[in-house]
Amino acid sequence: MKSISTITLGLSALITVSMISCNDQKKAENMDVKKGITKASFGNADGKEVFLYTLTNDKGDQVKISTYGGVVTSWVAPDKSGNRSSIVLGFDSLSGYLAKPPYFGALIGRYGNRIARGKFKIDGFEYTLATNDGPNHLHGGNKGFDKVVWESSVANDSIPSLSLSYLSKDGEEGYPGNLQVNVKYTLTDEDELKIEYSATTDKPTVLNLTNHSYFNLTGDVANTILNQRLQIDADNYTPVDSTLIPTGQIVSVKGTPFDFTTAEKIGARIDSVKGGYDHNFVLNSKGGSLQKVATLSDDGSGRELQVFTTEPGLQFYTGNFLDGTIKTSDGKAINKNTALCLETQHFPNSPNQPSFPSTLLSPGQTFHSETVYKLSVTK
Ligand code: GLA
Repeated sequence: MKSISTITLGLSALITVSMISCNDQKKAENMDVKKGITKASFGNADGKEVFLYTLTNDKGDQVKISTYGGVVTSWVAPDKSGNRSSIVLGFDSLSGYLAKPPYFGALIGRYGNRIARGKFKIDGFEYTLATNDGPNHLHGGNKGFDKVVWESSVANDSIPSLSLSYLSKDGEEGYPGNLQVNVKYTLTDEDELKIEYSATTDKPTVLNLTNHSYFNLTGDVANTILNQRLQIDADNYTPVDSTLIPTGQIVSVKGTPFDFTTAEKIGARIDSVKGGYDHNFVLNSKGGSLQKVATLSDDGSGRELQVFTTEPGLQFYTGNFLDGTIKTSDGKAINKNTALCLETQHFPNSPNQPSFPSTLLSPGQTFHSETVYKLSVTK
């Protein structure tokens, strides 16, 4: 891959990288890793050049982000023994993404998760969206924000950060209003991947932005996520019907397999949840301010991932639809439960559930939202 520009920010670190990642398996090699951002060509889509940015912090930990779909393609950091591997599912070439994997690492919009029967009303007018998930609309439709090429620019400040923007035109995928969306990814020296979203519209519309990274803290899809432990600060969740649309009720997790108020092994009760976990948790923080809402940990690697968000909900999805047909770039089958998603969001189908927090965005308003994934390792 040809690096076409490099912006280096101060510190440089000489580290030994052993990439035994979800998407890449290489022998340990010495690499001179500099804090900053590099930009490289990643191919072409929709007649536009796609770029792959590499954000490196002062520890030498790296996040790669593609302008196609705003996808986080890898997040390489050490385990407790110092072995570096990617904790997210991804591919090392654009072709993997053009083959439409189930939203690996992507930015999701306009509406993350489902809208029942692809219909909603604003001011009495009914809008019709694609039904691309059985009878329902999912993750923005046939060509959501995960499948478009974003404009990019690098913020040249003291920490590596990448700004992505996309203008979703009035009527795109059936949604009203020209929607200008900006997403800023930052990798801090504290191993936080910060994602800041903002958006404006020129007509009332609905909006639910998230990132669809699939995590496996072991850094290897040969392992399932069932032994990893999860804690979610949610006393309630939204039960769903057989097509995964919330029934509208907000139900206590107490005494159910959805009780993650204290850390539990993901596999401990998954067999009593039909199909596996794919549910929205109603966060106790209620959204609005940035608060810690979940912690995922893996004893074997010593890695821990904390999730902070301003959003009121969290979709916990245990990779139930992964079935081994998709392979990593190095040929490993991606099987059921080999990765999980913690998608910070508003609740699914909110445009049709007046009792859920509103996802309406009107002209003159600016939507803001922030999510931080903070990785650490205990030796
Ligand atoms: C979300 C949904 C799941 C599934 C995945 C992608 O997590 O809730 O039902 O659609 O995205 O496969």
